[in-house]
Amino acid sequence: MARTPIIVGNWKMHCDHLAAIQLVQQLSYRLDPKDYDTSELVVAPPFTALRSIQTLIQGDDLPLGLGAQNVFWESEGAFTGEVSPAMLAALHVAYVICGHSERRAMFGEDNQDVGRKVRAVLAHNMRPILCVGETLEQREAGQANDVVVRQLNGGLEGVQAAQMGDVVIAYEPVWAIGTGRTALPQDADEMCGIIRGHVGDVYDAAIAGDLRVQYGGSVKPANIASLMDCAHVDGALVGGASLDPDDFATICRWHRL
Ligand code: 13P
Repeated sequence: MARTPIIVGNWKMHCDHLAAIQLVQQLSYRLDPKDYDTSELVVAPPFTALRSIQTLIQGDDLPLGLGAQNVFWESEGAFTGEVSPAMLAALHVAYVICGHSERRAMFGEDNQDVGRKVRAVLAHNMRPILCVGETLEQREAGQANDVVVRQLNGGLEGVQAAQMGDVVIAYEPVWAIGTGRTALPQDADEMCGIIRGHVGDVYDAAIAGDLRVQYGGSVKPANIASLMDCAHVDGALVGGASLDPDDFATICRWHRL
């Protein structure tokens, strides 16, 4: 089965709900139906803009998917400041980014936490985007593969084979995020291939063959085509460039570059 590419804009902590509406409108003017046919296109605004963007997507019938950047794993309770998977599902959130390196590094999320989030997202019929990736130190010490495999094992713990069709993996080397330093296409392809191979070992070859693996880290209009050319890269998780409607639209139209 051919894998449908998936391009996701991770807006991080940018755009209040008004700026978010503007950004989606500017993006939708720049895209035409063919763009949505080639790839699944998703935006992941901050929590405070999810409701506004959901209304815009529904009201204007935009073929754009809605993503969230984080979630807590419990359904409800005394967890001040947290947002539950049920709350996201009620806003028609389709994808939830789990274990982004910024959350791991700044908010202390470990592989076990990330696994809980992935399972909670799946339990609420949404799709996790499980982020994995090594730091520069780890890469230079030759530990990149081990780190990524450990992150995969923790993030996918308890995920059943039948649920794997809903899982997206994002390989985001930490040293390439927000630095302007993109992984070389062959390095991105190699690690995405290792991820696919590991999923094949844990599950089976058919599941690995259908698995969508994105690359993330300084994805720009200038490098998207060469990344998408890689056999194991099925899309991109885009940070900074997703905040510029021209750049993000160009990235979404990678097949025309
Ligand atoms: P940049 O595209 O800004 O490097 O961010 C990548 C990222 O972290 C996406 O989740």
